[in-house]
Amino acid sequence: MANGSEGGGGPAIENYYLEERVFEPSEEFRAGAVVGDRSLFERAEADWEGFWAEQAAGLDWFEPWETVLEWDLPFARWFSGGKLNVSHNCLDRHVAAGLGERVAFHWVGEPGDTRTVTYRELLAEVERFANVLKGLGVVRGDRVAIYMPMIPELPVAMLACTRIGAAHSVVFGGFSPDALRDRINDAEARVLVTADGGWRRGQAVALKGNADVAVEGTPSIEHVVVARRTGEAGGPTTMVEGRDHWWDELMAGAGPDCPAEAMEAEDLLYLLYTSGTTAKPKGIMHTTGGYLTQVAFTHRTVFDLRADTDVYWCAADIGWVTGHSYIVYGPLANGATSVMYEGTPDFPDKDRWWDIIETYGVTILYCAPTAIRTFMKWGTEFPERHDLSSLRLLGSVGEPINPEAWMWYRAHIGGERCPVVDTWWQTETGAILISPLPGITACKPGSATFALPGISAEVVDDAGEKVEEGGGYLTLTRPWPSMLRGIYGDPERYRETYWSRFEGRYFAGDGAKVDPEGYLWLLGRVDDVMNVSGHRISTTEVESSLVNHASVAEAAVVGARDDTTGQAIVAFVTLRSGEDPSPERGEELRAHVSRHIGAIARPRTVVFTDELPKTRSGKIMRRLLRDVAEGRALGDTTTLADPKVVEEIRRLSTASPTEE
Ligand code: WTA
Repeated sequence: MANGSEGGGGPAIENYYLEERVFEPSEEFRAGAVVGDRSLFERAEADWEGFWAEQAAGLDWFEPWETVLEWDLPFARWFSGGKLNVSHNCLDRHVAAGLGERVAFHWVGEPGDTRTVTYRELLAEVERFANVLKGLGVVRGDRVAIYMPMIPELPVAMLACTRIGAAHSVVFGGFSPDALRDRINDAEARVLVTADGGWRRGQAVALKGNADVAVEGTPSIEHVVVARRTGEAGGPTTMVEGRDHWWDELMAGAGPDCPAEAMEAEDLLYLLYTSGTTAKPKGIMHTTGGYLTQVAFTHRTVFDLRADTDVYWCAADIGWVTGHSYIVYGPLANGATSVMYEGTPDFPDKDRWWDIIETYGVTILYCAPTAIRTFMKWGTEFPERHDLSSLRLLGSVGEPINPEAWMWYRAHIGGERCPVVDTWWQTETGAILISPLPGITACKPGSATFALPGISAEVVDDAGEKVEEGGGYLTLTRPWPSMLRGIYGDPERYRETYWSRFEGRYFAGDGAKVDPEGYLWLLGRVDDVMNVSGHRISTTEVESSLVNHASVAEAAVVGARDDTTGQAIVAFVTLRSGEDPSPERGEELRAHVSRHIGAIARPRTVVFTDELPKTRSGKIMRRLLRDVAEGRALGDTTTLADPKVVEEIRRLSTASPTEE
């Protein structure tokens, strides 16, 4: 992308990934080959709409639905006419069933402080906070932005929104003020809920400070609610009179009872912004009845949940969809007991995770391959000195898991008794769509196996023809209850992004391979979206940020294979004339992106080059740059005009371009 230009061009669909990562399973790689009761699949195949209606009936409805599905491709309405409330389903009905004293969250803070929250306590806080929101003028149909660390107040704020019928938009606490501002403005949120700070590897990160910068440019925000977390350690917190309020002070003045609004099944539940192939993040819309039905169903079946005895830990951040669906809504809808952890795996030491599992007797662990590969690198001594015998099931999500990591996870963390469920899904799908079912599906390490009951996934070739065996593009052939209902404010972009590449099919953006036994192997993104530690970051977003810097003429960003994080961000940068490459300039650019988008988007490597390989029509050939980035060991910091790299790029740039 060039400085001053808009970028342009749709997603380039390349066959690039499809040749890679081929893993031929052999007998010894097979694990847990018990093929159990397949009746769930059979029922779903016989009548998939009826199957979903059966699952929806497991929730409490204030009024029954009239139609299961109205499908006007690509717009779906599930359980139309039905009325329900998400917080009622996650809290009140469990308390009413006598489960009020069951623990909803065993919360562990990064500094080691802990809190136990029962269902009764969670309901009480949610009702009170719902009244706080009402007191600030929030009404049904409004949007509330939430920018918080992983503290119990975060699920409280989300559930309080659902209670009164306001949609939330949670923005990951690692995002910059710019990113927060853009998301608030797109959603036109009236209230922002944040905290004074959050703990990150022993440091207090000033969330309120970031929020203040963001809110300067958000005309819709009327009030900011601030939970106390880091206190003095994060430095002084400035409170703007009339606009800013301390969480605890508002709670003290709020009434204890707040009835749950009867929401329409298709009312907006939340927005969650995700990276696509353009610089502007998309506000993915999830609605009420179908979403809750499917997250509850998948959480119960994929994790083989025994809610009265399991201690379940999803080690994601609630700022991402994994946390929305599998820390908050799925587990709570099922009355599960969860662990919620504020920190990272390596702080204060490499024993923290295993301490948590041992202390709480965690039975189900759900995390990302990046974490697993990091643990592999650290070695077995850390898990080995803990009693992890409580674990009975392991899950993986966010990126393709390589067979080696899958097998290591099972051998050294769970033990041979534990099935491993590799779960494929997306922000847009809302819930897990492809995964083994424990005790039912025979696993192959590295394969997400098959679509779940009720889901129809097919791999197709360039022409949209079904591939029976081999590589292609992953598509879904019919609607599912927790599917996104659109992109906020942009129905055309919704159709164009997800439903236009292949006629009548949802295209997920992922490449996949079908093996001779019909198993699905996810191969990674085939568009310009990178997957770094399970986080989706668009190449265009990072390029836009780079070319915003006064010194940059042109930038091309690629995701290069990385043994730990899946992909790493490598930026090829051409400086404006008169600007000289230097290690300091490289650092400055990395810091610039980090400030602009957030630390997760900081390029691992900045390569300065005076040319970029382009097609005849002037499109940068990222694929070639990815080859360059993967073909040599680019260091962790700036590679300052590495002569070999520069020479290779020059060769590519001058070679007669054949690709359009
Ligand atoms: C990738 C995260 C392989 C995929 C839940 C998808 C996976 C993107 C898997 C969605 C998996 C997720 N195997 N790849 N089990 N799970 N992905 O929206 O590329 O943050 O399109 O949702 O992550 O990322 P998102």
